[in-house]
Amino acid sequence: MLVAELAQRYLPPLDAFMRDVVESAPTAPGFDTLLRYPFGWVDANGQPYHHPTGKRIRPILLLLCAEAAGGDWHSALPAAAAVEILHNFSLIHDDIQDDSEIRHNRPTVWKIWGRANAINAGDAIFALAYSALSRLNATTSPEIALACWQIFNLTNLELTRGQHLDMRFESQASVTTDAYISMVSGKTAALVSASAQMGALIASGSTEKAAHFARYGLNLGIAFQIHDDILGIWGNPDVTGKSAATDILSRKKSLPVLYGLAQSPTLNAVYQRNPFQAADVDEAVRLLDTIGAHEYTRQSEAAYFQQALDALHAALNGRSQAANDLLRLSDLLFERSF
Ligand code: IPE
Ligand code: IPE
Ligand code: MG
Ligand code: MG
Repeated sequence: MLVAELAQRYLPPLDAFMRDVVESAPTAPGFDTLLRYPFGWVDANGQPYHHPTGKRIRPILLLLCAEAAGGDWHSALPAAAAVEILHNFSLIHDDIQDDSEIRHNRPTVWKIWGRANAINAGDAIFALAYSALSRLNATTSPEIALACWQIFNLTNLELTRGQHLDMRFESQASVTTDAYISMVSGKTAALVSASAQMGALIASGSTEKAAHFARYGLNLGIAFQIHDDILGIWGNPDVTGKSAATDILSRKKSLPVLYGLAQSPTLNAVYQRNPFQAADVDEAVRLLDTIGAHEYTRQSEAAYFQQALDALHAALNGRSQAANDLLRLSDLLFERSF
């Protein structure tokens, strides 16, 4: 099984690297637990925790892109750790912003420790992402390390731009598809794109080659978020580890909902109810089912996925084992239920 193979190759060194970075943070009573809990290393009491949490997709993608671009993945480990640490920062803040109580089948950081502590832990983890990235100085040239720093920093700005739009759209009656794509390009695809781009850049030293990988990552990231939108309505919470109601309850303008609002005056009326409660969520999902919102969204995802594959083929010169793994990983993301 592909993921088991990749997990075996990359995850032990990645985890060790991330732990080393996180453990380099200055300590204070309780603070250590807050910084380790999101990664799934400890439970809420600071005791060792041995259940899998995040999928670690972004670092796996980064390391595979490094290999597919013809380099040694070990030199890309600092960047791989940086993207996963940054991703975890974004989840902590996102769960506050979205009022989400469950992630990875566990209570979210804010749900356990309160919003103020969660913001603070998120800030520390954000800083630790840069600590990880700065270790590129030991594995690559100063020019490439600086270029990665610039990509990473721009990614953070894109991420916060996307999150701003995501929240702003909650109170907007309608949102265009173009505005939605701009929003998800920021909140999700920017980091997936940066992962592919940095992996290729560190491995090859070629900005031109890395640009092809960036285009692959951007389209893959858009497809990934569209898939997350589908799972956010029709996914199994036991498998995704998060609630299937919060997106609709907070009136998120996810892609199925955008389609629904454009097609169904009844859904518009439901969305304007105040208060908007659990029974309204059920009704909204029934309406989305009736008008084929699931099928529409899946087709849209498929179109971005195809663009990702086209960019990937342009990026790869010939087939290698890593190139095959990358294609199979992409397929797996397209078919995932988790
Ligand atoms: C969740 O990302 C947030 C999105 C950008 C859609 P993942 O689905 O990669 O999260 P984990 O780390 O595997 O839980
Ligand atoms: C994804 O946000 C982007 C970030 C976390 C920055 P979502 O709100 O769509 O993702 P989930 O569904 O909570 O994981
Ligand atoms: Mg969100
Ligand atoms: Mg969320």
